[in-house]
Amino acid sequence: MTIAVIGSNMVDLITYIDRMPKEGETLEAPNFEMGCGGKGANQAVAAAKLGSQVMMLTKVGDDIFGDGTISNLKSYGIDTSFVEKVPGTSSGVAPIFVDSSSKNSILIVKGANQKLSSNDIEQASDQLKKCSLIVLQLEIPLETVYDAIQFGNVHNIPVILNPAPAVKNLNFELIRHVDYFMPNESELEILTGFPVQTAEQASKAAKLLIDQGMKNVIVTLGHSGSLWVTESHTKHIPAYSVQAVDTTGAGDSFIGCFAHYLNEQKDVVDALKMATAFAALSVTRKGTQASYPSADELKEFIKAESTIIK
Ligand code: RIB
Ligand code: NA
Repeated sequence: MTIAVIGSNMVDLITYIDRMPKEGETLEAPNFEMGCGGKGANQAVAAAKLGSQVMMLTKVGDDIFGDGTISNLKSYGIDTSFVEKVPGTSSGVAPIFVDSSSKNSILIVKGANQKLSSNDIEQASDQLKKCSLIVLQLEIPLETVYDAIQFGNVHNIPVILNPAPAVKNLNFELIRHVDYFMPNESELEILTGFPVQTAEQASKAAKLLIDQGMKNVIVTLGHSGSLWVTESHTKHIPAYSVQAVDTTGAGDSFIGCFAHYLNEQKDVVDALKMATAFAALSVTRKGTQASYPSADELKEFIKAESTIIK
């Protein structure tokens, strides 16, 4: 029942700003926080916090961040047997700016994540074969992502692909074999070339992918919730209304929580509802992984929300 996350890790360097400095300007920012992030690690941590057994395939650099990243993953009980340190390479880092309306701008330096290769999948294949779900994003080389999809297909392991950050030259023939394709609005827009501003447009764009052979497309729409589109139906799951302070990593929290419940209970709608609540809680707190709730906090939140008369 182990979830395998084959993906990235980064050290998030988050500066909270009132506004971005102009060219040539030096501006004082009110706050700075450093935390563990990276889309792969965020998703792995979200699932592990909820009680999943998780193994992660990722690479760190041989700098001051590498050991910290490994011990952070271990502190959540994540199996790091296949996490390697790459000599002479920096760890992945992400300078992030969060403004007073909780919106973020993110720069990523992939560093060691670029070295995660198909050979690493091969090396871990005995353990990977025993996993019941594979979770992928796009902060590692595309070839590795394609091979991981194929590995899942060959060994009958369901695959979730979160196509983030958006990449224009994705090979559709290779990615259409995933079981759950989970983009956000802008990723779906870039992939399909169709506008995705509303839920209706998202549903149309997702249908295009379904027509071309995808099984399940789940589009996350921020405060408008999410859409689950298959050949036979489109289901909308509404979001909670919360006071957001930092939305960084909310998408990852959604994917990790969805993976946990899908793997455990196999019910897509229930998993989406839990993921919606998990992500809602995460945006009410600063940081990425540091903002993810525990299983108890998640249940409390859902209970409290269900008693509010709307
Ligand atoms: O999705 C949020 C994540 O994107 C951050 O943690 C940052 O590291 C980048 O990978
Ligand atoms: Na957050």
